[in-house]
Amino acid sequence: MTDSARQFDAQADRYAASEVHRAGASLPVLLEYAAPRPDDLALDVATGTGNTALALAPLVAEVTGVDLARKMLDHARLRAGAEGHAHARFVEGSAEALPYAARSFTLVTSRHAPHHFRDAGQFLAEAWRVLRPGGRLVLADQISPDPETRRWIDRYQTLRDPSHFTQRTVQDWRDLAASAGFAWVRDTLVPYHLEFAWWTETAGTPAAAVAELRALAAGLTPEQRGRAGLEFGPDGALLAHTEPMLVVRLEKPRG
Ligand SMILES: C[S@@+](CC[C@H](N)C(=O)[O-])C[C@H]1O[C@@H](n2cnc3c(N)ncnc32)[C@H](O)[C@@H]1O
Repeated sequence: MTDSARQFDAQADRYAASEVHRAGASLPVLLEYAAPRPDDLALDVATGTGNTALALAPLVAEVTGVDLARKMLDHARLRAGAEGHAHARFVEGSAEALPYAARSFTLVTSRHAPHHFRDAGQFLAEAWRVLRPGGRLVLADQISPDPETRRWIDRYQTLRDPSHFTQRTVQDWRDLAASAGFAWVRDTLVPYHLEFAWWTETAGTPAAAVAELRALAAGLTPEQRGRAGLEFGPDGALLAHTEPMLVVRLEKPRG
């Protein structure tokens, strides 16, 4: 079992109930960028409890969500049934080895998940393979402001959730998208303001790791704190941080 499957199977009930994940501000932007059509065959990669797939469901011909974590998929299936989405399917599978034939989809999405992927280049190659020419890939994921802050953020995020892999910069994503052959069409940053107590509770972070996170944050310079988006109370206690979510639309050229 992978770190992600272990982490998200354990947190599936909490995740399914989280409004931040279910309806957070990146979702309407992702939907606008995806511009779903009634004839779209959509694939949502690392779908979790189906938040993005089920937002797409009423707008497309068919939607499939894939994820590594079975318990997250169980929640997605339950919700699809309760909401009456008969053309939404949920399948176990990896972002880096999508269980579909080439050119099976017209739209691929992945929201709040690529920072867990070990090999984002392989994920983009897979998205390219399963998309038809002219297909769209819309991603939403938290980003680091620069490579140095990325190193610190990865340490911080991994303490909170051991399945975090890396929080890439916008330039990393531009380079990866170009290597995979995608056209970078439009992008924006959507800030997420996350309360520290909520953020550690939703990941089930143990008390010792919470203390370590506080100590790590306290040891940063004011400039580093600013770049990492950390907020402290007047008594010096860590209160929250802001994560910029990159939302980007990529296209597989027709030619
Ligand atoms: C934070 S949740 C995001 C869920 C969903 N996309 C949403 O919008 O709420 C991240 C999900 O990524 C899944 N995941 C992580 N690495 C994966 C991989 N390599 N392949 C497939 N799913 C993966 C986890 O199991 C988890 O369900």
